[in-house]
Amino acid sequence: MTDSPLLIADRDAVRVVTVNRPDKLNALDAATLDALHDAFDAAADDDAVRAVVLTGAGPKAFVAGADIAQMSGLTPAQGRDFALRGQRMMRRVEKMPKPVIAMVNGFALGGGLELAMCCHLRIAADTAKVGQPEINLGLIPGFGGTQRLLRLAGRAAVLELCLTGAPIDAARAQQLGIVNRVVPAADLEAETMKLAAQLAAAAPLALRGILDCVNVGADCALAEAMEYEAAQFGLVFSTEDMREGTRAFLERRKPEFRNR
Ligand code: COA
Repeated sequence: MTDSPLLIADRDAVRVVTVNRPDKLNALDAATLDALHDAFDAAADDDAVRAVVLTGAGPKAFVAGADIAQMSGLTPAQGRDFALRGQRMMRRVEKMPKPVIAMVNGFALGGGLELAMCCHLRIAADTAKVGQPEINLGLIPGFGGTQRLLRLAGRAAVLELCLTGAPIDAARAQQLGIVNRVVPAADLEAETMKLAAQLAAAAPLALRGILDCVNVGADCALAEAMEYEAAQFGLVFSTEDMREGTRAFLERRKPEFRNR
């Protein structure tokens, strides 16, 4: 059996998925793309998992990109398939029914930034650097980078990052809306786990409703998106957790959500 390119560990209801190729700065080869897809399928199916943290092994990198060694020899058809393989996995992450936090512990370049962007939230160490350096290789982003960065940070930012290929630091990434929070590197894990635990304690079906509304709304016109939100809003009234949450507020106590 070959070694898995991932480490997977549960901390209470939080699953931590770590890309584990530190000697290659956690570069995404085809096996790692597929392992990530399987890991997120498993996390989606496991009711005991309420939130997921995704990170990279070692002190230097979240993920330094798609695996350049593996890409360098691809034919055009294989290149397209490789892009589709990465896009499929990242769409799977984006459409997860429970929140996924990218813990950006270092370089998030190319496919690494694309991977962080398909997560629902991003917390970065103040030492992290992010960018889309594909242009320096005569390439373009292929795992959704031109599109997710456009939607996340706007036209000026996506064009600056993709056309120049120059990485930016975590503080600038936050200014541009690419990462949600920046924390001192020494606090990254504790802060991320604190947020993950908070999300893991929230009402799971309501979290899922929010994720669904944002995913569906991102792909359709406002009027339909609002209809969809209203339908999802109605649907949460069928949950025990909604009754518990509202009752707990009125009774001035902490709610206990049960994923029902
Ligand atoms: N694909 C494959 N291997 C990669 C990689 C990638 N995207 N990024 C880093 N590596 C490998 C290096 O080849 C090196 O392997 P080796 O020790 O077997 O030679 C190892 O990881 C360490 O990287 P190194 O370049 O020596 O580290 P550094 O600290 O000098 O530089 C970076 C760090 C991130 C600036 C540099 O590795 C880099 O520019 N990586 C590529 C980033 C990129 O273009 N990503 C987009 C790909 S489409």
